[in-house]
Amino acid sequence: MSYDGRILARAREIIAERKRANEEEQARRRTEVFERIPAVFDTEAEITRLMAAVASDALRKGSDAGAAVETAKAGCEVLLRRRAELLRSGGFPEDYIDEIYDCPACHDTGYILGKPCACLKALYKAETVKELSSMLNIDGQGFENFDLSFYDRFPDANGIVPFQTMQRVLDACREYAAKFGRDSVNLLFRGGTGLGKTFLAASIAKSVSERGFSVVYDTAISVMEAFELQKFDRGGDGSDDVSSRIRRYADCDLLILDDLGTEMTTNFTQSALYSLVNGRLLSGGKTIITTNLTEDDLRRRYIPQIVSRLEGEYLVLNFAGRDIRAIKRERGLK
Ligand SMILES: Nc1ncnc2c1ncn2[C@@H]1O[C@H](COP(=O)(O)OP(=O)(O)OP(=O)(O)O)[C@@H](O)[C@H]1O
Ligand SMILES: [Mg+2]
Ligand SMILES: [Zn+2]
Repeated sequence: MSYDGRILARAREIIAERKRANEEEQARRRTEVFERIPAVFDTEAEITRLMAAVASDALRKGSDAGAAVETAKAGCEVLLRRRAELLRSGGFPEDYIDEIYDCPACHDTGYILGKPCACLKALYKAETVKELSSMLNIDGQGFENFDLSFYDRFPDANGIVPFQTMQRVLDACREYAAKFGRDSVNLLFRGGTGLGKTFLAASIAKSVSERGFSVVYDTAISVMEAFELQKFDRGGDGSDDVSSRIRRYADCDLLILDDLGTEMTTNFTQSALYSLVNGRLLSGGKTIITTNLTEDDLRRRYIPQIVSRLEGEYLVLNFAGRDIRAIKRERGLK
């Protein structure tokens, strides 16, 4: 599983912001308490003095400082108890002016002994899903909302029963999402318009990203635009939006390339598509491509290097049925 640096940075920034807010709140509470109960301030000053004395004592005497340290510790405890009483009698909780943490486990640093804390991992996942939903309507499009009743139970002109075909497709997609990992295959969703290809790709994207994998969704048109833009931006500093977009297409765990065949095809887009598809095969990132193109269309449209990779390295799922957009209109659904 690869971490998307940009999303990780955002998750860490959110934790840092929490830490800042908590420190600010603690400072505000201390000012409030010191104004209302000055004795709390004096008690704290005494604790600080005592600790400093013990520290220098320990430095001077080394291991002989044991007894002194014990006495000082006891002194500190007395002072802390007094502080707690003062707070309580002023109507504050005992720990009112202590440090405040959203995550007591890592003290809002995001890491425990150099390893990411559960709070950072949870934020990373949440940010991944958020990022994806800005590209894709994944709220209404999950497996649980996939309605098989849109697909006919009687055979079409080719003897295919759409309901059965799509039940198998749905099962395959569910299983793919549940087992997604290094050993997953690449998928090619093929079929006419309005059959649920984007819907099921979105369902997989949602489920896989919720498990913490980096998932990027984009249409072929928009992906190719990014490559075009980058071509004209050669010599840029490489830190711009387009470069980072292209890096994410290349590096993510799962790329959904929607509507292949709707983009303009030029020599340049052919070579861009080739390097994207080939690069992901080499790096082991998984890709789901959706298209209206038939096998023959693909062969006519793309260079053999692309076609042979799509045919050899992608598991094809053929969609069946009638345009669900049209069915919904007929039934007066939105
Ligand atoms: N099984 C389904 N249950 C409920 N709604 C569906 C289902 N399949 C598709 N839809 C809805 O029908 C519309 C068309 O589906 P979708 O966009 O997935 O089709 P598509 O195969 O990607 O079409 P295109 O090739 O035109 O991109 C969408 O509004 C989608 O939410
Ligand atoms: Mg679609
Ligand atoms: Zn934590």
